[in-house]
Amino acid sequence: MLGAPGVGKGTQAELLHQHLGACHLSTGDVFRAAGRLPECQLSLAMKAALECMRRGELVPDSTVWEMVRERLGCLRCGGGFILDGFPRTLTQAESLQRLLNSEGIDVSAVVSYELPFSEIVARLGGRRTCEKCKSVYHVTERPSKISGRCDHCEGNLFQREDDRPESIKVRLEAYERSTAPLIDFYARRGLLARVEATGSPHAIYERTVAKIESLRFKGFANKLWAAAENRRDT
Ligand code: AP5
Repeated sequence: MLGAPGVGKGTQAELLHQHLGACHLSTGDVFRAAGRLPECQLSLAMKAALECMRRGELVPDSTVWEMVRERLGCLRCGGGFILDGFPRTLTQAESLQRLLNSEGIDVSAVVSYELPFSEIVARLGGRRTCEKCKSVYHVTERPSKISGRCDHCEGNLFQREDDRPESIKVRLEAYERSTAPLIDFYARRGLLARVEATGSPHAIYERTVAKIESLRFKGFANKLWAAAENRRDT
């Protein structure tokens, strides 16, 4: 999944995970989980990564890659996988491509969510997350039933440190500089599905599934076509 911070990737990944059973790997969630460990259990690279994250900067490619490799099992999941927030740089995308090639794994689609800047800022500014089960809410768009309490586990809702205005600005700049070029990278490979991220989460989910399906059919048709051409040549 590609898309600027706050566009709704995590919300959509959760819906896709619930409906399709695919494994959801969010590099941001993995870093946040590391941030809750006692300091003595953190490597120097992880401490530096958490500092980058607080400022809204990207974590160095080498640290991200090490973490993804540790979770290789997700990519082998029988129900498929959803990568949320990874890859985020061309270096990460190329490393991922080499890994998938060596494992014989295909990517069905790369979904790029698109939303006007003003709505992105409103989504980030109003986001609240449960400190226990990590469910995500929005103060006006997706409020919890009781203010400040999670509907699922009654945990306290908090605002992410990197959702402060000064970090939001850095994150949006990092997205434009380092991640947006991946849109072309995947478009050239015929994998890109552009999805408008306006409207309700359910409406966006429906749009996403329709786009993925049409890409899958196109990929399947291309393979049949190539096989028919090969047969004709031999
Ligand atoms: P990460 O956790 O990946 O953050 P992000 O990409 O900035 O994305 P967000 O989680 O902020 O937003 P989202 O698009 O998932 O939106 P959400 O669904 O929550 O990464 C955090 C940091 O980790 C990075 O800045 C970096 O430092 C580091 N990092 C992670 N991966 C890295 C990598 N590969 N390389 C380098 N560094 C890495 O929705 C947002 C809000 O909108 C919520 O309140 C939600 O309820 C609401 N909302 C969602 N959908 C709708 C809707 N349709 N209508 C109204 N409201 C909605």
